[in-house]
Amino acid sequence: MIEDPYPPIPNHESRLSPKAVLFDAYGTLFDVFSISVLAEKLFPGHGQALAIMWRDKQIEYTRLVTTSNHGIHYRPFSALTRSSLIYSIKRIVMPLLPSGVSISFADEVEELLEQYQKLTPFPESIDVLHKLHAMGIRTGILSNGDAHMLHPIVKSAGLQGLLDHVISVDPIRKFKTHPDAYALGAKVCGLPASQILFVSCNSWDALAATWYGYQTLWVNRYQLPFEELGTQPTLIGNNLHSVFQLLDNWKL
Ligand code: LAC
Repeated sequence: MIEDPYPPIPNHESRLSPKAVLFDAYGTLFDVFSISVLAEKLFPGHGQALAIMWRDKQIEYTRLVTTSNHGIHYRPFSALTRSSLIYSIKRIVMPLLPSGVSISFADEVEELLEQYQKLTPFPESIDVLHKLHAMGIRTGILSNGDAHMLHPIVKSAGLQGLLDHVISVDPIRKFKTHPDAYALGAKVCGLPASQILFVSCNSWDALAATWYGYQTLWVNRYQLPFEELGTQPTLIGNNLHSVFQLLDNWKL
């Protein structure tokens, strides 16, 4: 057993029944890897690799612009999504072009970005939001995405009316995992973070939300290990239905 030289800081706040549930958007309610179908059609043999690199680079860019030079290099998530796609095409597809051939793939970029506004929701996303709504629990999204991205995707997935809040970090010009981004969720809900359940499939997001003080559900869709940084989420589940497991626990 390897001992962690940095033991977790205990959370002394009592766990009160959550009055609201906030969801991460990309990767949690919407399947970012559903884009690989179109990516494969446009770039046969490279769809999956492109989708994975695109997502990784997109998140890397959010961290880069948040942590560098007091945020003066901030760009909205839609701009970073475009930049990270262009980077991934340059990295994966362009080196395979015959020498002397130069293609910008501008049409493919536009097509993929358009599809990003219509990413497929996970099969249980709507059902879970419906049930929470019926239980009278406030629901919302707390996302790095900006309004230009979030409103079309919420509409395309048919989630309007099921979300009380669609919160973008864009107005504060800092991306998750900056604490100010998590603070925004609590502020908009008008609740302490300890009375909000934050749900994410992204382990880094579930970790940082736990650090901030939220109750958290990490949805481990891909059977991955959780981050090795000494803190665990409140619950680890297999899909979004695990939200109810947590709400049931609270009722006991
Ligand atoms: C979101 C991305 C980062 O905040 O998953 O929606």
